[in-house]
Amino acid sequence: MNNVISFVRGSQIRPINESDRICYVIQPFIQEVLDRFIESHNLGTAIEQAATKHEEVAKKFFDINYSNVEESFSLKQEFLFPQENPLLALHYSNTLFPSFLGKSGTKIIKDESILPDIHNLLYLCAQSNLSYDQICQQISEPTIELLDKLIKCSIVKEREHQKSSVPPETPGVFRLQHAGLLYRTKTTGILVDPHLHSNYGIPQLKSDISRAQLEGSVDGILISHPHYDHWHYPTLMMFAPETPIFVPKVPRATIMCEDMEARLKSLGFTNVIAVDWYAEPIAIGDIEIHVLPFYGEQPLVPEFARPIHPDLRNWGNTYLLRTEYYTSWFLIDAGQEPMKSMFEVAEYVKEKIGTVDLLLSNFQPLSYNSIGTNLSGWGIDIVANLLSNPQIFSVTNKEEGEYVALLGPKGVAKVCAIVGAKACLPYAHSWAEIGQPGVNDEQLIAQVEAELKNLGASTQVIPWKIGDGYAVKNGEVRDLAILEGALS
Ligand SMILES: [Fe+2]
Repeated sequence: MNNVISFVRGSQIRPINESDRICYVIQPFIQEVLDRFIESHNLGTAIEQAATKHEEVAKKFFDINYSNVEESFSLKQEFLFPQENPLLALHYSNTLFPSFLGKSGTKIIKDESILPDIHNLLYLCAQSNLSYDQICQQISEPTIELLDKLIKCSIVKEREHQKSSVPPETPGVFRLQHAGLLYRTKTTGILVDPHLHSNYGIPQLKSDISRAQLEGSVDGILISHPHYDHWHYPTLMMFAPETPIFVPKVPRATIMCEDMEARLKSLGFTNVIAVDWYAEPIAIGDIEIHVLPFYGEQPLVPEFARPIHPDLRNWGNTYLLRTEYYTSWFLIDAGQEPMKSMFEVAEYVKEKIGTVDLLLSNFQPLSYNSIGTNLSGWGIDIVANLLSNPQIFSVTNKEEGEYVALLGPKGVAKVCAIVGAKACLPYAHSWAEIGQPGVNDEQLIAQVEAELKNLGASTQVIPWKIGDGYAVKNGEVRDLAILEGALS
């Protein structure tokens, strides 16, 4: 099939909502607080000095009682708990072109009622099997204008049909970029935390996984938590509105965790699933999905173990998938927080569900007291996370490892030992070329292996690369092996 519309390599779409806009406005002030803290080692003094320099932002957005600066410093309630968080714009660009060629643009969203139309446009383009004319017949006049702009900016273009590259009838799990996974049975596919044509990708990548490669292989999507390296709704808009999408249940929307269910509904999704942890499993095709807690990765440290308000939480889910061919639990960035940890969830899994064939986790020992003081290396969502517990500013430059909010190698090994995992695979270690391992995979795998040995656990750690699969051999149930370059 020739001349169908498809997304172009290097194209990126970035959403900006109202809370993001606020974070962009206040980020220089927060960076100033951190810079001043490095000089003075006094948080109160640092906040006062930064507030003098950024007077307007400090007054408009923050409560500061100057007789007790350190403890009173807070983003104002109306911004911590926004009543609404409208999507303001979708910025698009193709990073493979030099900026002087002007391959970028912004779709300003004046009225959110247009979002289902934009969703429909992205979905029609994503399938890589419709011509320009066929797409135009299915969208409104203003959306045709947007399609023309996307073509002009090399976000999508007419080209030869790109085939799906997911191996047919191959049950297993496939490693996409960063935290993206594709679970397959012979008939059903579940996509996890996808980032396709995303602004989080590395612009210089020579190879990547495109949306077209996954066409026909996705029957449901699971979202783990609202951090922006896991929650990229332009990617989700590349899938059909009726696609079942699981999201964490958010009791109250905050600046650090939007109501993901409401967001997806505003984009036109009709089958959004936000259930309680430990709810009855839900089946998509022949995959049974258990929604389990996501403890850990809160902006908390032992010194400052409570947020300004208990609703300021990084709400998330971990998911356990049961299929005829394997059972897999993936832990994402979950770990430990001062009051709770994934070890208790592991005990539940052991008791109620039994042995886990494949356990997948981020292996990095990350913590909020070791993220450093340079905000430019993080997504804009880090500003909102830090502001849920601003006293944490005084410990962000501590040595790594003093307090670990994720599991780290020790915690991953412990969970494997509790649930009797047969295999453990690393993921969510950032973006890389197809065929390359994630960042620090090698060292982290060695560390997990050493910890497993200490515990006397028989779990095998499986090295794999971006684009690889870990799939059943010759149709044998529970006998899996690496399928190199499965998605290339
Ligand atoms: Fe995270």
